[in-house]
Amino acid sequence: MKNGKFQAAVIGMGEGFRHIEAYKANPEFELVAICDVNMEYCEKRKAEYQLDGIKMYSDYRQVVADPDIDVVSICSPDFYHAEQAIALMGAGKHILCEKPMTLDLQEAADIAEAVRRTGQTFLVAHPTRYTPAFVLAKKMIARGDIGDIFMAETEYAHNYRGMDRAAKPNWRKDARRDPLLGGGCHAVDFLRWAVDDLIDESFAYGTKKGLADWPIDFDSYFCLYKFRKGTIGKVMCSIGLSAPYTMRSVFYGTKGTIVCDNTSSTMQLSSVPFYDSPWDATPFVTIPVEVNNHNIPSQIRLLADVVLRGATNTASVVEGARTVAACAAAIESAHTGKTVKVRNDF
Ligand SMILES: NC(=O)c1ccc[n+]([C@@H]2O[C@H](COP(=O)([O-])OP(=O)(O)OC[C@H]3O[C@@H](n4cnc5c(N)ncnc54)[C@H](O)[C@@H]3O)[C@@H](O)[C@H]2O)c1
Repeated sequence: MKNGKFQAAVIGMGEGFRHIEAYKANPEFELVAICDVNMEYCEKRKAEYQLDGIKMYSDYRQVVADPDIDVVSICSPDFYHAEQAIALMGAGKHILCEKPMTLDLQEAADIAEAVRRTGQTFLVAHPTRYTPAFVLAKKMIARGDIGDIFMAETEYAHNYRGMDRAAKPNWRKDARRDPLLGGGCHAVDFLRWAVDDLIDESFAYGTKKGLADWPIDFDSYFCLYKFRKGTIGKVMCSIGLSAPYTMRSVFYGTKGTIVCDNTSSTMQLSSVPFYDSPWDATPFVTIPVEVNNHNIPSQIRLLADVVLRGATNTASVVEGARTVAACAAAIESAHTGKTVKVRNDF
């Protein structure tokens, strides 16, 4: 730290812009370096955000070697997260890593091992954990507003066709990036976080019609999850559908139901405890919520709280790894037609 501020760097100048904005706005951080294999993107962000005097690197190993850097946001394509995170933590940097933590179960275990070995703070940037409607849904479930939760469904409905038309190369169109892990991890992570229990096993079906020319096995999934305490979960993930982006999610409890979506400015609650009235007289009420899907400022605040003030890391490497494992189990099930156990020991 310098002058009481974390010296921060951002790797990857696409989504990385949100991290740049967050570091610039938080007085506990000073953004000192940006990195991208394509220096044109660094130059563009430098001009856009008036980052005078910023260090610009074209290789993440320059960030590893820079002794002045304390905190790094990893916003490179998914394939590089594990290699970069492990090397950066080995050099004493704290990490905020974009989702998915990694696309591979062994790499998830390797990152978890590196966190234990180095003692560095690692946060995985699963944004739904900071989405106002989803935060409120989790709070309502935890305090019993809908009784005991027994069924939960989340979704990741995101048409990826448009990404073929983007100016940058489309790294998502890659056989290594299964859509359930790459994008559907948002819905799987939200399901796990909201239900607040370990998943034992998964069964899933996959299909591919919408993105027939993509080098992936499935563009759409229905996944079932069995939680340890008996809740059953369902995740719909499709990157091949033709509809606007949504993450509609429903939580069913013994005394009520919550319906929420990160793209809606309202959510619905039907709750016996809330109304103190009989079950059949409990209508849905509409609750206004802020739409805020990429809350990086909250994530870097959490990072500072964990490192400086001993706060609990609610986005830890174990959380990231368990989400990777829950996705990997469903993907394996869709390929084998068998129920697959979910790994939780990271
Ligand atoms: N939290 C979210 O909702 C959200 C949204 C979008 C993307 N993401 C994640 O953020 C990451 C980046 O996605 P994106 O949409 O910004 O992609 P992008 O293609 O827009 O940007 C990625 C950038 O990384 C650079 N890059 C490529 N290889 C690199 C390497 N080895 N080292 C350093 N830089 C490298 C590219 O030149 C590019 O500028 C991915 O992991 C993605 O899954 C998260």
